[in-house]
Amino acid sequence: MSNKRIGILTSGGDCGGLNAAIRSIFYRAKNKYNMDVFGIKDGTAGLMQRPVAAVQLTHKTFEGYLLRQGGTFLGSTNKGNPFKFPTKNGKFLDKSKEIIEGYHEMKLDGLIIIGGDGSMQILKRLAKEGDMKIVAIPKTIDNDVGATESSIGFHTAVDVATQALDNLQSTAASHRRAMILEVMGRDAGHIALNAGIAGGADVILIPEIKYSINGIIKKLNEMKKHDVQHSLIIVAEAVKKEDGSIVMHKYMDGERRLGGIGDYIASELMRKTDTECRVTALGHVQRGAPPTASDRILASAFGVYAVDLLNQKKFDRMVAWKDRRVVDVPIDEGINTYKNVERKDSLVETALSLGIYIGDEV
Ligand code: F6P
Repeated sequence: MSNKRIGILTSGGDCGGLNAAIRSIFYRAKNKYNMDVFGIKDGTAGLMQRPVAAVQLTHKTFEGYLLRQGGTFLGSTNKGNPFKFPTKNGKFLDKSKEIIEGYHEMKLDGLIIIGGDGSMQILKRLAKEGDMKIVAIPKTIDNDVGATESSIGFHTAVDVATQALDNLQSTAASHRRAMILEVMGRDAGHIALNAGIAGGADVILIPEIKYSINGIIKKLNEMKKHDVQHSLIIVAEAVKKEDGSIVMHKYMDGERRLGGIGDYIASELMRKTDTECRVTALGHVQRGAPPTASDRILASAFGVYAVDLLNQKKFDRMVAWKDRRVVDVPIDEGINTYKNVERKDSLVETALSLGIYIGDEV
């Protein structure tokens, strides 16, 4: 007989497994605590609207297909810090009070936010300034939230990139080409490293380890000595050119976004050798694909635990995956413990042992 009211919002870039998390939150909240659960639309943007853009979730909401779908049916935003919100005339407004008011207007007893470190930082500040009761669930295909071994969405992205390598292998062999696959991950090389191992890449380039074009060429020549005439190269989007410059595309909205390092590697290899290269930039299919089983499981376990935290009034906590179980840590740990690939990472050793070229410093 609780009838507490809780909200859920998804914030930042979407990924596979978000719908599974929302579903799990709903079932735990409804079935165990008889809470009323509201899905807030488009992240914090929903709380800025009047009336607040939110829907009450029911059993009917989760008829079955949502669990299987990528993205988030609530919508999300990774634009516009509410403390410095961009407006059409180029000025910035502080919209934080509107969000805080929206939260209190909904008469919520707590809010579960599903986001990466950037979203958690914003929501933590809003919570502090506006007495909002929050619990966080980490999601990011980049898997760079250090306080958890896994974040929702990572496994799906790795799976998509692995499948891409699987599909590229046959065409690489048919044409005796070097196929270059550019993957996401921002400043962390987790997707490239994991998918590169799983998908049999010959070369893995990640932002954390310095490479050289000559190092790649040496590897391709060694393969040719063994009469292997085709190769698979996976490169993370934030890998820099040899001269240390970052590769970005300029978009029509004036923003510069990571992308294009695959083309650079291909051009350099074709300039210096007779290797024929082709490039695939995988992009947002890593986020929109149906979630893997492991992401659905992780999301479901996180959802249950997050509701329990709210029910116990344990606020400002983040759920995390550690040693095969869900635990909770202060949300600040989620924000402040950035995790990228370290040299001592056992997967770096694994890649080296498989004969993969991963850079010159290892
Ligand atoms: O942080 C997740 C991520 O997918 C990164 O890997 C990528 O660089 C970025 O978001 C893309 O963002 P957007 O959705 O704005 O293109």
